[in-house]
Amino acid sequence: MKSVGVVASGSRSFYAPILVYKEAEKDLVEEALAVVRDRVTKKEYLGIVRGLSKIDPLLPATQRSGIVDNPKLAEVSTSIPFENSYIKIIGELRGGRIEPPRDPPTPRSEVYLIESPADIELDLGRGLVVGSHKYSEIEIPLDPKYLPYHVGIVGATGTGKSRLVRALVDEVVSKTDWKVVVFDHSGVDYAPYYGQRSTIDASLIMPDPMTLGELISEVIRYDNVDHIVFSIYAYVANMAKPRESAKAPRFPTPEFRCDVNTVKKFDFTDIEKLQTEIDWGVMPFVSCVVAAGSVFGVREYTLARVELMLKVYAKKLISSLNKKKLTTADVVSRVFSERFLVVDLSTVELVVRRYIVRSTIEKLWEMVGERGEKPRTLVVIDEAHNYACYQQCRNSLEPIERTAREGRKWDIGLVLSSQRVIDFSTDVRNNINTYLFSRLQTPGDFDNLRGVLDLGGIGADTISSLGVREFFFAGLGNPLKFPILIKVREIGESSAARSGSTS
Ligand SMILES: Nc1ncnc2c1ncn2[C@@H]1O[C@H](COP(=O)(O)OP(=O)(O)OP(=O)(O)O)[C@@H](O)[C@H]1O
Ligand SMILES: [Mg+2]
Repeated sequence: MKSVGVVASGSRSFYAPILVYKEAEKDLVEEALAVVRDRVTKKEYLGIVRGLSKIDPLLPATQRSGIVDNPKLAEVSTSIPFENSYIKIIGELRGGRIEPPRDPPTPRSEVYLIESPADIELDLGRGLVVGSHKYSEIEIPLDPKYLPYHVGIVGATGTGKSRLVRALVDEVVSKTDWKVVVFDHSGVDYAPYYGQRSTIDASLIMPDPMTLGELISEVIRYDNVDHIVFSIYAYVANMAKPRESAKAPRFPTPEFRCDVNTVKKFDFTDIEKLQTEIDWGVMPFVSCVVAAGSVFGVREYTLARVELMLKVYAKKLISSLNKKKLTTADVVSRVFSERFLVVDLSTVELVVRRYIVRSTIEKLWEMVGERGEKPRTLVVIDEAHNYACYQQCRNSLEPIERTAREGRKWDIGLVLSSQRVIDFSTDVRNNINTYLFSRLQTPGDFDNLRGVLDLGGIGADTISSLGVREFFFAGLGNPLKFPILIKVREIGESSAARSGSTS
């Protein structure tokens, strides 16, 4: 450790002003870690270097000195300016552990810069390591005990959020017994890295009748969604009803007439599963829409238009349902059998993406409700502003909020990554207890972040100067319980990232 200065007068338990030695001026940087050794009390304090400033006693900023107008004079005595700064004290160091500071370090105590992990004995537990302190390279592990208290990852585009999420996911998979499901919004951040064997293509997952109804209505520009949804139920009831004999045709014949009365008696338990088992064709579906039209009192000319639009515009959509052979129950069972699964959402419409996220989380909660089991599953949502926002996200927001509020009791954790913390509903952002944040998207984001998190005095300027891979690690999961600047470890492009993660 390098001795860099002494504590000046006016120290407090959490704050020690320091005078920097001349030869150490070049070594000190903001957010570096330092140790204060108090010879009087024999205590050691761990802290962060902040507020570096250069002072020239002959050139006070508020008085005009002769030096200003006399360049020759300014050239002499350039050694007079000195640097000062302060140490934001994180805690007292005792046997490798950090405890809250109880008294201020004695002025004149020496201050040392921590330059490598070997410089101090620090026991931060054996948690999940996504990176290390930017200057000292001390690893700051995230305690997995706090996974069900949720992790938020925030930063402007390109700061390295998705890579950071991968680092975290790899750690969870290799060091804990948690299961992980990653929702890959863009399909480029996770699916290609973890490979096909660990990925489900969302276009193979059957949406529920509500979502499907929305989709079909959107395609044919028809705002009576309820009519279409009812038609879907009628279609399923007609197609899934037991065949009268083994000889009866399995596929609808051209004479097929949809009977909407079947809906009344039909048992729709596991409807999505039934949807994957029947055959889908636009003509028999139109028959159900027409039959349902009379139940809904749809006018004849409207029905004629809907019929035409379905035939012209919805044919592809409806026949594409024939290849959707999975349900979100299958997603959950794969998560449980394989422990790790990426769902590539990029292949489906946003409403379907939201459905898949919602329904998967709901299935986890069903385990809790029906069997009292703890799913012990981490739900990772990248680009989470598409799923945890206020208005448009209503479909997926509700189970995410529930998980944010109650997940800790049942071991369901969230990892949400987004460009802006304001994109999460209030309930969500207030229940995320660990944050990793980088350079922010807009100046207003700083205030929003400050609203949900104790920033420990980090300034907006410090945050706006962060580079790629640089994140402040703050909140419950941080063993120092104080925001620390980390550099996320190198996360490469290769698909071997997962197996090579622990190195
Ligand atoms: N840990 C890392 N290791 C190696 N390269 C990184 C790392 N983090 C970021 N990068 C580089 O920065 C680029 C952007 O990273 P990433 O895609 O994770 O950003 P992002 O914050 O998720 O951006 P967006 O908001 O646009 O999704 C990567 O393509 C990579 O080149
Ligand atoms: Mg990203």
